[in-house]
Amino acid sequence: MDKFVIRGGNPLLGTVRISGAKNAALPCMAAALLTEETVTLQSIPQVRDIETTRRLLAAMGAEVELGYGRAHHRTTISCRNLVSPEASYELVKTMRASTLVLGPLVARCGRARVSLPGGCAIGARPIDLHIKGLERLGAKISQEHGYVEATADRLRGAEIVFDRITVTGTEDLLMAATLAEGETVMQNCAREPEVADLADLLNKMGARIEGAGTSTIRIKGVSKLHGAKHRIIPDRIEAGTFIIAGALTGGDVNVSGCEPKHLTALLQKLAEAGVKTSVSADSIRVMGDNTLKAADINTEEYPGFPTDMQAQYMALATQAEGTSIVTENIFENRFMHAQELVRMGANIRIEGRRAIVRGKSPLSAAAVLASDLRASASLVLAALVASGETIIDRVYHIDRGYENIEEKLRAIGAEIRRIGEIFPKRKSAAG
Ligand code: EPU
Repeated sequence: MDKFVIRGGNPLLGTVRISGAKNAALPCMAAALLTEETVTLQSIPQVRDIETTRRLLAAMGAEVELGYGRAHHRTTISCRNLVSPEASYELVKTMRASTLVLGPLVARCGRARVSLPGGCAIGARPIDLHIKGLERLGAKISQEHGYVEATADRLRGAEIVFDRITVTGTEDLLMAATLAEGETVMQNCAREPEVADLADLLNKMGARIEGAGTSTIRIKGVSKLHGAKHRIIPDRIEAGTFIIAGALTGGDVNVSGCEPKHLTALLQKLAEAGVKTSVSADSIRVMGDNTLKAADINTEEYPGFPTDMQAQYMALATQAEGTSIVTENIFENRFMHAQELVRMGANIRIEGRRAIVRGKSPLSAAAVLASDLRASASLVLAALVASGETIIDRVYHIDRGYENIEEKLRAIGAEIRRIGEIFPKRKSAAG
């Protein structure tokens, strides 16, 4: 398993370019299931979850070409011949977002069989709201052997009110409703920019969706969708992570190719914490020469402070003067990084949904373990300001969602390298 070795202490200086958003790319790839024609997606990030989605779609008979390098992250997906509308446990267990194929498959093929994802490192994460919504659209649902099976001759438009806000749930049902007969009105929808981006693609494919990006979405069902070309929005969480890296290390970093409007809650909070930023149309410059001060955060659905930035913000809070209270409202178990930060010298106490972070604590390098994608990013950030050489194990988590993070960090002055197994397994006597 790969590890990162990071020597802390360098201020980061220079420009870093943001990749396409993983969490917009995943539903957009699933949307290609809704048509026989080719869907071309630009700005697909080169991360492991995208490769997992390629395998997921290919297993159903789709032709997926991930074009990196000279193809400028352009991906083409053709789902002309779908042989098996199934998502196996093998794939779903490595990536929960695989459940995004449920809605499109039942809408296009009349049948879908998708493994139930089970819990993960950050919480229970059920998919009951996806299932209830599909039932409202007329699908028959059964659950057996760890799989959910949905069938419908043709889905029918319906009123759906989400019991609680769910991002992939909104996306899943949005895709399903595009091919339903009649109108669907969904309320209490997720307002994340990734939902609006998906709706943009679907409308280019011939769907009739209004209101995506607000809490009420109206979809007039059509009988067929066609191919389209679409550029994925920039990754706001990657951008936020680099902004915090610049602030933490006392550097001067220009985060380019991002969408500042998607980062308002974070930028507002950073201003409160004393971080200086200047914003232009598609870039954010962070100047980390101010003393950081404590500021509390509460994670919320968009446009609130994103849960996907909570772990990275906690790393920053360890270096701020005073006490910051970090409250996690979206997931029940998203503090795994806190104990690792404590091992590096942070002063953090967990009380249920709250983490009480007292700063400023000098951090010192240690061997630490990444537990999920954003937790890994938090440890990388802490390592950038720790004295000595931190070794972060299980960086496959970070590879799921950050494109070339070590190259991007190295280019702006971080000392970071990737190493493989320190003690590779011995070859057997026979071989
Ligand atoms: N929930 C239910 N029932 C459902 C669906 C969700 O109870 O049927 C609960 C969840 O357990 C959670 C809350 O609702 O407590 C919100 O979960 P949501 O469904 O919004 O999360 P998600 O769609 O599974 C997406 C992102 C996550 C991000 C969350 C919250 C993708 C592929 N994933 O997950 O991203 O944290 O929204 O913003 O879009 C990440 O990128 O690291 C990541 C985990």
